[in-house]
Amino acid sequence: MTNEHLIRDLVKKHGRSRVALLPILQGVVDANNFISDSDMVEIAKELDLSAAQVFGTATFYSFLSTEPLGKYVIRVCKTITCDMHGKKQIVQTIEEMLKVKVGETTPNKKFSLLETNCLGWCHEGPAMLINEKPFTGLTPERVHDIISEYISKS
Ligand code: FES
Repeated sequence: MTNEHLIRDLVKKHGRSRVALLPILQGVVDANNFISDSDMVEIAKELDLSAAQVFGTATFYSFLSTEPLGKYVIRVCKTITCDMHGKKQIVQTIEEMLKVKVGETTPNKKFSLLETNCLGWCHEGPAMLINEKPFTGLTPERVHDIISEYISKS
């Protein structure tokens, strides 16, 4: 299915009002793992919005990636509680293991490393998500084990 068809289906499902924008963007990301410039232009046409409005919404929500991401998307919480509980060492451990910096994807497209705002597990921070799965109470050792496990996955 081309994205044009996908977008039309999503518009049929969610309607053309402004509140439909977020679920439509999310639907495209769910199907493709990211949203391209041409998808955003197409959505803007369908909802009668400017491309800048669509782009602004897509980039405001860091969960709506505007870049192609890896198979496993690691999102480490960067908000204050996790930050105070050692988020920096968590990020460093992952960067060293995967040889990427925050915001980058490994050359084999297996992992993307991102930071995100509070995930709601502040009491058990530092916290991160790998795709939909939360990991809390992280230490560099624990993160090392978790990432090693993902490295050995296909
Ligand atoms: Fe990290 Fe809330 S501050 S989960």
